[in-house]
Amino acid sequence: MQRLAIFSAALLAATPVPLAAQGLPVGACINTGNHLESPKENGWGGKRLDPADFRNIADAGFQTVRIPVRWDSHAGSAPDHAIDPAWIDRVALLVDSALDSGLNVILDSHNFEGLHADPAAHRDELAALWTQIGARFADRPTARLWFEIENEPHDQLNNLNLPQIYAPALAAIRASNPDRPVIVGGEFWSGVNSLATLNLPDDPHIYPTFHYYDPFAFTHQGAQWPEDKQPMGRVYGGAADAQQLAGDVAKVRAYIARTGKTPFIGESGAYEVIPLNQRVAYTAAVHDAFAPLGIGLCTWAYTNTFPFYDHDKKRWLPGMLAAMGLPEKGE
Ligand code: BGC
Repeated sequence: MQRLAIFSAALLAATPVPLAAQGLPVGACINTGNHLESPKENGWGGKRLDPADFRNIADAGFQTVRIPVRWDSHAGSAPDHAIDPAWIDRVALLVDSALDSGLNVILDSHNFEGLHADPAAHRDELAALWTQIGARFADRPTARLWFEIENEPHDQLNNLNLPQIYAPALAAIRASNPDRPVIVGGEFWSGVNSLATLNLPDDPHIYPTFHYYDPFAFTHQGAQWPEDKQPMGRVYGGAADAQQLAGDVAKVRAYIARTGKTPFIGESGAYEVIPLNQRVAYTAAVHDAFAPLGIGLCTWAYTNTFPFYDHDKKRWLPGMLAAMGLPEKGE
């Protein structure tokens, strides 16, 4: 039975993805991490990002950077929800540094918790935020700056209500950015299973994404923030893990076949308390399994929570770049 499943997964893996289904040119991508996604910049620790970080990321061979940004805690009251000018300037400095370094940029709204808890009550606020973000970045290159309406829908925001809740935000973006790529991830923290029922808005410049932290018992062992806390000691790489990964690749192939759209992985990674050789093994397994589909992979993250780069030692953690298909950087 297990051999049959592995055999069918191998057959599926050999089927080429049609050209028309190619998605955004994400390629090797890295999330900047938590720096801008807490209520206060660097509220969750780490060094402040500066323009040199984006040159460092580009020099390592990454094509794209995903910059998670919390907007709602830097915005005023209804109806305008005016974003603090110092905050949008700070984000613009980093976005422009990334663009100037030759990187593609994914700019999202991250951790807008009110939206997930009560989507209808926060729908207009989401649109007001995107009106301002859209206007501010409208003149940046359409081919290289992409918006993501909200990170990881969860709680009350799900695949059923998502198109309706996102509609005003998308219209707000389209008022100033008629054909900029806009990224949408599905319910339940955008896990791979969300793709099966993800209904995208009817717009030619919408791109689907999903996040991949499976098996969660491995990637989030020792982490204190999930409700579902996982004990340490889970090792990655057995036959069951390989079978799960092959099955998940098959789900993504089925999604591409059904919709004609190729999603990319907006987040994937393993927590830093896990031994480095295990983090490398996991990252390589995920990269290698999904690469034949031609989909991009944004690893989580640059220097904090699940770091790839050690700012104190000024070096990329050994093995992590190679796991992403990039050349290793010497000591
Ligand atoms: C969260 C981070 C977290 C990561 C892995 C991200 O979406 O914003 O805070 O470290 O997922 O759980």
